[in-house]
Parts: sequence; structure tokens; C-alpha cells
Amino acid sequence: MSNVSLGILISGRGSNMEAIIKACQANQIKATVTVVISDKKDAKGIAIAKALGITTFVLDINDFSTKQDYEADICRILKGCSVDLVCLAGYMKIVGETILAAFKNRVINIHPSLLPAFKGLNAQKQALDYGVKFAGCSVHYVNDVLDGGPLILQDIVEVSDDDTEQTLSKKILKKEHIIYPRAIQIVLDRLSKREG
Ligand code: GRF
Repeated sequence: MSNVSLGILISGRGSNMEAIIKACQANQIKATVTVVISDKKDAKGIAIAKALGITTFVLDINDFSTKQDYEADICRILKGCSVDLVCLAGYMKIVGETILAAFKNRVINIHPSLLPAFKGLNAQKQALDYGVKFAGCSVHYVNDVLDGGPLILQDIVEVSDDDTEQTLSKKILKKEHIIYPRAIQIVLDRLSKREG
């Protein structure tokens, strides 16, 4: 695949988005982030993306009569940017059928736990509450099962006795920034093999 195009969906801080954009700019991912879409107008990640020279859009679901209409507009933007792979990076909505059908096997996500453990919100707190000795992060394909699609890459961190939700989240986030760009390149290599 030549001129590979990535689209990133965010809702907040955007640190994974930033890691992906920088990995593309450093040619560690053989692709370009062509668009960042946020569902929240106050997402910190928007300013970061703009500063890195990326086109951004904010789409508020409340401006649409249905989730399908909202997602159709996201797809229109993504297709308009010829996006090959959609990367969720702290996007806080469940991706629905409209996006999944338009980008079959081309939507991926990062989750701050060793899936299949601790799906859903506050994964790091769930891990601490459970008392696990190792935690981590997972990049996976997105399907209609929440945090349930096939795994692409994982990494682990050791949980120490004095870890808090904050310290553990920070340790995991560091690993996220490493594995997400790697996972993207793995997926792109698979796509190009399939097409080649
Ligand atoms: C990360 O912990 C990611 O695993 C989860 O949401 C958080 C997003 O952080 N899905 P950021 O916006 O990438 O900084």
C-alpha cells in the first residue's frame, strides 16, 4: 500500500494520538495521520494535533438525530481523507455498526489492561482492586463486543504494593505509547500482504 492514511478518533488528552503522529513523522510507522476527529470540543488532543500539523474535526453527537447519522458523518470525513486504518485513542464512545461496516477489520483500539481481563471503564482501578501482580495494555481489533476483538499486541508492567491508580496508569501509559505504533505497523503490514 502506498500513501497509507491513518485516521484517529479521540475524546480527551490525546497522548496515544500524539505518540502515533510522532511515530509516523519519524517514519517508524509507514503512514501519515491525515485526520483527527474528536467527539468532544474541549479535548486537549485537538490542540496537540493542530500543533503537529494535522487536520482536525469535532463532531458532537448531539448535533445529529441518530448515532447512525453521526457515524455516517465520521465515515464521510474518514473516506474523504482516504483513511486505510482507523485508530481509536481514548475515544469514549462505543463504535457502532456504521463505522464497523465501512471499515471492516480496519478499526483498532488500545485498552489499558491485559485483555480479556478488566474490560470497560477504569481498567487500571479494576486491576488494582483485584490485586493482580502484573497489569498492562492491549491493542486489539474493534468488533461489536466491547474490548473483545482479536488481540494484536500486548505488554506488561509489574504492579508494586504501593501502586495507586495514578502510578499504575502512568506506568501502563508509557507502554501504551510504545506498543500502539508497533501494533499499527503490524496491521498495515497485514493489510498490504492481503492486498499484494
Ligand atoms: C488510554 O489509557 C487508553 O488505553 C484508553 O484511554 C486512555 C487514553 O489516553 N483507551 P490518551 O487520550 O491517549 O492520553
